[in-house]
Amino acid sequence: MKVTIVGAGNVGATCVDAIAHRRIASEIVVVDIKEGFAEGKAMDIMQTQTTLGFNTKVVGSTNDYSKTAGSDVVVITSGIPRKPGMTREELIGINAGIVKGVAEQLLAHSPNAIVVVVSNPMDTMTYLTLKATGLPKNRIIGMGGALDSSRFKYFLSQAMDKPANDIQGMVIGGHGDTTMIPLTRLASYNGVPVSQFLSEEALAKVAADTMVGGATLTGLLGTSAWYAPGASVAYLVDAILNDQKKMIPCSVLLEGEYGQDDICMGVPCIIGKNGVEQIVDIALNDAEKALFAKSADAVRAMNGDLKS
Ligand code: NAI
Repeated sequence: MKVTIVGAGNVGATCVDAIAHRRIASEIVVVDIKEGFAEGKAMDIMQTQTTLGFNTKVVGSTNDYSKTAGSDVVVITSGIPRKPGMTREELIGINAGIVKGVAEQLLAHSPNAIVVVVSNPMDTMTYLTLKATGLPKNRIIGMGGALDSSRFKYFLSQAMDKPANDIQGMVIGGHGDTTMIPLTRLASYNGVPVSQFLSEEALAKVAADTMVGGATLTGLLGTSAWYAPGASVAYLVDAILNDQKKMIPCSVLLEGEYGQDDICMGVPCIIGKNGVEQIVDIALNDAEKALFAKSADAVRAMNGDLKS
């Protein structure tokens, strides 16, 4: 199986590394616009082959998409990240042009690929990619919910002092500090509702910490995070390449689900070799429905900025 990652920056290079470690691809091509940068990252990662024991071939390319031909999955991480104090939404103008151009070049060489969109503002970039390429909705997947859910489970595990891998939980809605919806009501510790372990205030704090999880790291690091984003992409790519039928919250085109139309937002999806194989329309309560509608309004406003 062949995977292409566009953008050899913090997130892109970490995606390459995480996918190589999972031993799920025979070849990974990494592309960047900066002369020699992707080649350097590829060579550095290839020099971990013998110490880490993987056989995936990693190839770097400065904007030569012929090397990406025949990819099964392509991942778009190219674009600018946010700096402290910036919202994901402020990146829209620059990143829209980059994402559109990159998607077109990728599909010219890999017409059957599943496309994973990572660049921010991710829901709007996913919508743009869908509209610009005309691909069926199952083949365009925005990655955000996998990351936000892993952060949610981290904060739950910290608050409960329980192992994160024993905690189940999902974040749906838009991938923005104010638009994501950590589903505290449905989160559990091995099937037991987390409300048995945490007070309402403690749960509200977990939700609030999750929502600003990315911004907190941006403040600490001076740029946006990369380990958890890269690992989340690898988790998603694994589900596709190995046809895992895993339920992962992803940004996908909604056509009536969750009461929304013509918008890409995070909802639980069954992910397999065909990309999004099913959208799981879970029964939200009235408060969650209201949050989802509010989140949709914000994402839709952002999509409007795209057109202007
Ligand atoms: P970075 O600045 O470290 O890397 C971006 C790379 O893209 C740079 O190496 C740059 O040269 C390259 N690039 C720019 N234009 C290009 C083009 N036309 N073709 C090929 N390469 C090009 O940024 P970082 O931290 O890797 O973030 C990348 C994007 O991912 C940002 O938009 C960021 O906001 C987003 N992000 C999304 C997450 C999510 O959950 N969806 C999580 C973390 C970051």
